[in-house]
Amino acid sequence: MLSVVFALLRASATLPFLTSSLTKNRIPNIQLSADDLKCPDKRRELSAFYFQTFNRTVFSDKLPPNLAVHWNKRLLTTAGRCLQATIGDQRVAFIHLSNKICDTTDRVRDTLLHEMCHAATWVLDGVQHTDHGKNFQFWAERAHRIHPDLPPINSFHTYIIRKQFNYRCTKCSNRVGRHTDSLDTKKNVCGLCGGRFQLMKESGDSKTSSRTTVHEPSARGDSFARYVRENIRRVKQRNKKLSIQGIMRKLSREFDKIHGR
Ligand SMILES: *[C@@H]1O[C@H](CO)[C@@H](O)[C@H](O)[C@H]1NC(C)=O
Repeated sequence: MLSVVFALLRASATLPFLTSSLTKNRIPNIQLSADDLKCPDKRRELSAFYFQTFNRTVFSDKLPPNLAVHWNKRLLTTAGRCLQATIGDQRVAFIHLSNKICDTTDRVRDTLLHEMCHAATWVLDGVQHTDHGKNFQFWAERAHRIHPDLPPINSFHTYIIRKQFNYRCTKCSNRVGRHTDSLDTKKNVCGLCGGRFQLMKESGDSKTSSRTTVHEPSARGDSFARYVRENIRRVKQRNKKLSIQGIMRKLSREFDKIHGR
């Protein structure tokens, strides 16, 4: 009897140690539904959770508090981007995640980690570029070593944009896609011929409804930095109480508008 208790005690004394060392860097498998991810609070909570986790595991808690993550509904051609700029004498980075493309928990996690590697090359290494050079590779490899169970970080986000709802005009076969079933087929008629739309089945239409996305090209990152340089004084003067994140948010909204995003 005593030896059984002893054996149990020994097991429970060694097991926690074993499991904690094995699972230290394991990212919990969170499954939020597509509908959950449409809720701004829930997706912000999710991205904040992943952000804090990676800040600790990959970046040794070194990412500065002013590094903000922002969900961007206008970002349609890439899953994420990292804007880099200097404000005063501070290097700041600003991560955008696309609502439309980051529509699963895995995409949020992997896109965020990719963009955090870009942010680290700037705010930690002082290397400003948005390509996938030496510094980016350093962080990407480190992330992969620490989280071998996550997909390796590629240079490109190659995500298919899911357009779940496709409609076809019953008269001329003109097609339109929607992210939700928002098209009122009783009210809306085809812009080309005036015919009625009909909701199509998912299958067989993946070619017309999908698109591959690539990472933000470097030119845009650089021109955003220039935009910040040229406009920061004006925005600061008009918004004296705004934090750095607030100023960056304003600048990136303006920048998006100018570039037709
Ligand atoms: C990263 O973690 C450190 C330590 O907890 C914290 O001070 C810092 O603000 C975190 N960075 C961000 C951007 O949240």
